Amino acid sequence: MPHQEPTEDGPAGAIPTFDLRRDGYAAIDWAANYLENVRKYPVMAQVSPGEIAASLPERMPEKGEPFSSVLTDLDQVIMPGITHWQHPRFFSYFATTSSEPAILAELLAATLNQVALIWRASPASTELEQVTMAWLADLLGLGDGWHGHIEDTASTSTLAALVAARHRSGRNAVVFSEHAHSSVEKDVRILGMHARKVATDDEFRMLVSGVAEQLAHGDVAAVVSTAGTTSAASFDPTPEIAELCARHQVWLHVDAAYAGSAWACPEFRASQAGVAQADSLVVNPHKWLLVPSDCSALFTRRPEALREAFTIVPEYLRTNDEAPSLSDYGPALGRRFRSLKLWAAMRCFGRAGIQEFIRRAVRLAALFAGWVEEDPDWELVHVSLSLVCFRRNGSDEENLAIVERVNRGGEIFMTHTRLGDRIVLRLAVGYLHTTEQDVAHAWAVLNQQSG
Ligand SMILES: Cc1ncc(COP(=O)(O)O)c(C=O)c1O
Repeated sequence: MPHQEPTEDGPAGAIPTFDLRRDGYAAIDWAANYLENVRKYPVMAQVSPGEIAASLPERMPEKGEPFSSVLTDLDQVIMPGITHWQHPRFFSYFATTSSEPAILAELLAATLNQVALIWRASPASTELEQVTMAWLADLLGLGDGWHGHIEDTASTSTLAALVAARHRSGRNAVVFSEHAHSSVEKDVRILGMHARKVATDDEFRMLVSGVAEQLAHGDVAAVVSTAGTTSAASFDPTPEIAELCARHQVWLHVDAAYAGSAWACPEFRASQAGVAQADSLVVNPHKWLLVPSDCSALFTRRPEALREAFTIVPEYLRTNDEAPSLSDYGPALGRRFRSLKLWAAMRCFGRAGIQEFIRRAVRLAALFAGWVEEDPDWELVHVSLSLVCFRRNGSDEENLAIVERVNRGGEIFMTHTRLGDRIVLRLAVGYLHTTEQDVAHAWAVLNQQSG
């Protein structure tokens, strides 16, 4: 092919350039204004399915546009379709909060764009991840002997643990409770393993007798014990399950994706019993530790089992560095610099700041639970940490209608679940700037919408 001189309209001239400083200041101003004014928005997006897509062009632009047009469309087209997870009256799913230092660290991580395939591809990312995981283990009072690395989500962390459990045992069944998070069942399905669901007691805890029954089959690779279930933040009896797993030489994985963060406070560590006997443990800093999604910490006492299951070194990655590659412990080869935001949050809040943040959320949930308990029109069903499950006296349909009305109103956003044979409403506290007034407002809105 003959050499082509780049012309103004030719290939070279078509690559736009940007003023990072000018665009960056505008983006930071945008972010700061958003967080200052987030209360003005309806918490749950008030759009219909397809509305946002319909307001976007079907094709990308032929010629590049200035970054300012992205910010303009962010305001005009995208924002109506945003459900505001960083709204102080977001009470849905689980406590999920970002924080200013971690937001900035995420920007810096994208700037450095580390792809930590192996140690030499990013020594700092690899080693900061090891150090922050050791800090996290210490913050949560996990004790010694854990190897930690970061995955994107708890779904992936649990997947990695199950891969290791199967690789080590050659067995193919996984035992978990009917209240375990759906990601466990999805992981089992992805891996072509067999799901063995165990019933729960009236406190939504996995029945030890059911686990024992399953282990007797002799084909179980792993048991997943949940510390803080999604519906009720209930805790499976991990010490008893750990004993059974040890007896049958079965991998024990503890899913503490939400509740594990509470162990930053010594007074909430009773629920950690049995975790020291687990083979692996997942805690999500992107839920309740002030780090924006995604950031899931996978700890294991059997790093060699993960390494054996995951290590493949193609020629182009072969080196004589005597250093670990964290890609040997999970599915992803290209690993982004997630530890930077966790490091920023841990440094900037400090242990005391994190503890007060967790305690405040638990206090606010207890306050709300007290109001529910005192009101004869409502029933308090379950309280654990910063999650309150409750219902209005009446049918399931009436309770579902209340949640729908409340969410459509936009002043608060919450979800429902099923506990036993009844629908309950869930109020999950955990955003960094949620106050007592916000929780009181939630209670007022619920009462207004129930009349
Ligand atoms: C107990 C529990 N485990 C796992 C998950 C899945 O987390 P992720 O979205 O990080 O995969 C959740 C999500 O809320 C959860 O509550």
